[in-house]
Amino acid sequence: MQPSTIAPRDRLIVALDLPGTAPAEAMIARLGDSVTFYKIGYQLAYAGGLSLVRQLTENGKKVFVDLKLHDISNTVARGVESLAALGATFLTVHAYPQTMKAAVEARAGSDLKILAVTVLTSYDDADLQAAGYRLSVSDLVEARARQAQALGVDGLVCSPEEAVALRQIVGRSMSLVTPGIRPAGTPSGDQKRIMTPQRAIAAGADYLVVGRPVVEAADPKAAAEAIQAEIAQALG
Ligand code: C5P
Repeated sequence: MQPSTIAPRDRLIVALDLPGTAPAEAMIARLGDSVTFYKIGYQLAYAGGLSLVRQLTENGKKVFVDLKLHDISNTVARGVESLAALGATFLTVHAYPQTMKAAVEARAGSDLKILAVTVLTSYDDADLQAAGYRLSVSDLVEARARQAQALGVDGLVCSPEEAVALRQIVGRSMSLVTPGIRPAGTPSGDQKRIMTPQRAIAAGADYLVVGRPVVEAADPKAAAEAIQAEIAQALG
C-alpha cells in the first residue's frame, strides 16, 4: 500500500510490550476495533507471543514483529522465512549490509516488509561513542539509510527527529516508522529523542509506534483513539 493512502487509524502501531500472551490478549480485547496494527517485541515474543501473530492476522489485524535480527546471513534468511510464513507485515533487522541483504532476499514472494533499524532511539552521540562508533547519530543514520535503500529494504525505523532528513535522502519510496512518540504531557521514560504524534506525522513519518503511552494508560482505548485523532488532524 502506498504510504499516502494509509488511513490515519492504520498508522498507529501499538507496541504490545507486555509479559505474556494473557495480558497481551486482554490488552487487544480492551483496544477492540480501535487498533488495527500491533507490534510484538522481545518481551512478548520470548514469552510465547509469536503465537499471537497468526491469531491477530486471522482477525484482520496487522503485525509488526520487532525482533531486530542480526546474525550471519543464512541464519537471518531462515528466520525471515519463518516469520513471513506467520503472516507478519513488518519485521525489523539491524541496518548492517549483510543482514539487510539476506532479509530482503528471503522475504521475496511474501507479503512481509523489511524495516531496517538505523540507530536505536535511546542512543545519543555519547552512547554511540561508548559503543565504539566514530560517527554522530545523524551521520550514522544517514549512512545506514542510504545502504538500506540501495539494498531494497522496504522501510526504516527512525526517530521522528530524523524523519525530515530521511525523507530527503530516501524520497517517498521507503516507509518511515517512528517510535519515540510521546503525546504532550506523558513521561519520556528511557527515550531520548521524542516527538508528539502530530509533529512526527508532519515531519514525514508514515507509521507511529507507541507503547507505554497506550498500554500503561488508565484507558488504553481512549489513549489510542486520541493519538489516531491527532494523526488525522496532522494529515489534514
Ligand atoms: O513505550 P514506548 O512508546 O517507548 O515503546 C517504543 C517501542 O518501540 C518499544 O517497543 C521499543 O522497543 C521500540 N523501538 C524503539 N526504538 C527503535 C526501535 C524500536 O523504541 N529504534
